Amino acid sequence: MSYKKVILNEFGGPEVLQVVKEATLPEPGAGEARIKILAASATFTDTMVRKGVYYGFKETLPLSPGYDMVGVVDKVGAGVSGLKVGQMVADLTVWGAYTEYMIRPADSLVPVPAEVSPTDAVSMVLSYVTAYQMLHRVAKVERGQSILIHGAGGAVGTALIELGRQLDLKMYGTASASKRELVEELGAVHIDYAKEDFVARMQAEGKVDAAFDAISGENFKRSFKSLKKGGILVPYGFYDQAMGRGGNVAIDYMSVALWNILPNGRKASFYSIGDLRKKQPEWFKEDLGALFGLLTAGKIKPAIERRMKLEEAAQAHELIEQAAVKGRLVLMVNKK
Ligand SMILES: NC(=O)c1ccc[n+]([C@@H]2O[C@H](COP(=O)([O-])OP(=O)(O)OC[C@H]3O[C@@H](n4cnc5c(N)ncnc54)[C@H](OP(=O)(O)O)[C@@H]3O)[C@@H](O)[C@H]2O)c1
Repeated sequence: MSYKKVILNEFGGPEVLQVVKEATLPEPGAGEARIKILAASATFTDTMVRKGVYYGFKETLPLSPGYDMVGVVDKVGAGVSGLKVGQMVADLTVWGAYTEYMIRPADSLVPVPAEVSPTDAVSMVLSYVTAYQMLHRVAKVERGQSILIHGAGGAVGTALIELGRQLDLKMYGTASASKRELVEELGAVHIDYAKEDFVARMQAEGKVDAAFDAISGENFKRSFKSLKKGGILVPYGFYDQAMGRGGNVAIDYMSVALWNILPNGRKASFYSIGDLRKKQPEWFKEDLGALFGLLTAGKIKPAIERRMKLEEAAQAHELIEQAAVKGRLVLMVNKK
């Protein structure tokens, strides 16, 4: 049976994404499962993989982007137990999920409750686990504390606001004017970063206990200044650098490490979903399971602005790089 996938033969703009047809389905080896993909997120991180600027990424071309997916088990290889054909599962793939079928190690799959929709479920994998682990595993925020979220109208930003609401946090979110309504609806105070100096605002508001920043460079420094004594900065991305707006990842890492050891009464700790998953694989499963629990209990509802077809991956990337997506964008792949 043939199937479609989106590949890139060279790193570059959205136009390098091509839809191709593979003649036969891949066969799962021992310990593996073939997944029929239902939904895959299209995220800013995928655009970095596509451009060849994703820090530390060493895979060779051709490859498919696609950092996460939800699908159903289609076939299992020898020695796989505990997985049933037809069962819905999720995984953080890092690359490769822009496809109708893919092979995954059976032990990396996380069961998805049958009552959850594939689009809601896939929203949990990269964006919500990132938000959840930064809040609970890194910053360890406590009920009622205050936080500053940059990129508050994006995929991770909206996840941080939704999860912060569960903890009754006082939240400030920077975003352009186009995302004001969404940020406020979700429950944060909107700060238009183009018009207002967020450091001055934070100083006026008494500063925050934690700041979550994926913008990079000068923004990290300014977020650090916005912290109360005992506060923590969690840098987790390099948005400006990926957008070609200058800056230097190595210098950012060194600066953050330095701020963390200087006697300034505040902390700074980088977060990477991939690094933490390597160190604590059980936490990833546990935290994703907790998020599925919040979904089934109706306590969270991911802000999904757009659903597009797998074949529209190039247009999806264009929208993401224009910051034209409010919340998140999901690629719909197979029907159940
Ligand atoms: N470390 C990890 O494990 C991890 C995991 C997931 C994502 N990330 C990183 O986190 C970042 C965000 O990912 P995402 O999926 O949430 O991307 P996204 O959905 O594209 O959201 C980013 C948002 O930032 C806003 N923005 C741009 N410049 C800004 C500025 N100077 N100040 C405040 N907001 C600004 C953009 O919209 P407006 O300008 O219209 O407000 C956009 O909504 C990316 O760099 C990604 O690689 C890291």
